Amino acid sequence: MDLTQRTFRAVSDRVEDNPQFVAWWESVMLGFLAPSPQEMTVEWVLRESVGDNWLQRGCYDTSLPAEALSAEHPVGTFVSFDKSINVGGAVIPAHLITDVTVRPSHRRRGVLRRMMVDDLAEAHEKGHALAALTVTEATIYGRFGFGPATFVQSVRLNTSTRFGLRTPSTGRVELTSQDQMGRVGAEIFERHQAITPGAVGRGVLYAEHRSGIFDPRASDRNRSVRNALHFDDDGRPDGLVCYDVREEGGHYVLTVRDLVAVGTPAYLGLWEFLAGIDRVEQIDWPLAPIEDPLRWALVDQRAYEVTGIKDHLWLRILDPVAALSARRYSCPDQVFTLAVTDDLGLANGTYRIDVADGRAEVTRSADEPDATVGVEELGSIYLGGVPVRQLHVARRIGASDEAADRLGHLLGGVRRPYCNTDF
Ligand SMILES: CC(C)(COP(=O)(O)OP(=O)(O)OC[C@H]1O[C@@H](n2cnc3c(N)ncnc32)[C@H](O)[C@@H]1OP(=O)(O)O)[C@@H](O)C(=O)NCCC(=O)NCCS
Repeated sequence: MDLTQRTFRAVSDRVEDNPQFVAWWESVMLGFLAPSPQEMTVEWVLRESVGDNWLQRGCYDTSLPAEALSAEHPVGTFVSFDKSINVGGAVIPAHLITDVTVRPSHRRRGVLRRMMVDDLAEAHEKGHALAALTVTEATIYGRFGFGPATFVQSVRLNTSTRFGLRTPSTGRVELTSQDQMGRVGAEIFERHQAITPGAVGRGVLYAEHRSGIFDPRASDRNRSVRNALHFDDDGRPDGLVCYDVREEGGHYVLTVRDLVAVGTPAYLGLWEFLAGIDRVEQIDWPLAPIEDPLRWALVDQRAYEVTGIKDHLWLRILDPVAALSARRYSCPDQVFTLAVTDDLGLANGTYRIDVADGRAEVTRSADEPDATVGVEELGSIYLGGVPVRQLHVARRIGASDEAADRLGHLLGGVRRPYCNTDF
């Protein structure tokens, strides 16, 4: 095996200008056990790559036999690009990672490690406070300093006669076309992100995909997707839902593909609309918030069933000073000294966190730390989505009981972070 790593950006959104991208994307599909992509899908993904300014990374094996898949097809793929994240009181840049694959013939020989270590070092060098990804398996990324930071739950709502809100919703909901949703989706999401800790900025084609305008797997429009908007009392769209409906055993089941609300009235209004669709008796949504106002707004709580909980967003702190000074704090003024360990040598050090009026001044310190955390654990507790206490009793935080409680008060007490962006 003779490996070289290359990075490149698409030179235009025309497939014929980007042979390197075409081979690279075919390798991504191979890695995800997906069919070889059709031409229209490659064009669409290329448009996404250009629009979101992806940095494609490929590991190429120059020692492949002539009969093997061409040497222009990388044996390892990796994308990173810049978006934003709401860290609680502020929206800051985030280094996002996706499309990580290694060809089965080259697995477990350090290809992923090589791409990841280089990419994180470059993101650190560029001054990013944090990196983020979502995972297919929970055992891969902790070793690179990522910790699960936000969670979602799959919910099943019984919308037969059992559904009813304690207080009627406000505003109005109207059906809209896929194309109209493609136009307004991004703006509604941006307003949602501004008020939602944990929300990660979406790719340029996100609304096109969710609304059904283009389904990259089918390489076609997805005509089963329906779309609706919630309008506030001034007639401004402040919520969206994309869904499809299928018949199952004599009744209809509705699956939510995307639901974004700028505040609770829009959120509950969209649910009331969905639940009111005649002949639909069940609604499934795999990306509901853990702290879900819907459950508490229902007349009959048991119409709301949680069918699963899973980690969603994983964070990797690259610069503790930048990350910890960016978010806001709801604790009383205090000073805490936190030591961070990091096998990749990017975030380690001891940091003095001086909180006053909800903001922290964070500086490197030579003081004895109150607590020591691995960078993986810091990623989990940073947004307040994982209680410090839980990690402490699991022996993943080095601190006395008293110091762990103080750290928990420092980072917690905030709204549960929630991310409904897939990437
Ligand atoms: C997951 C995948 C990218 C790993 O690539 P790889 O080149 O085999 O990984 P590496 O050899 O660089 O391994 C790096 C480390 O991760 C560990 N690791 C890799 N894959 C793992 C897995 N699936 N589960 C647990 N540990 C894993 C290795 O043991 C190694 O540990 P070490 O460095 O501490 O010894 C590859 O198996 C793959 O493409 N899988 C299918 C697509 C996929 O699931 N991608 C992830 C999307 S989130």
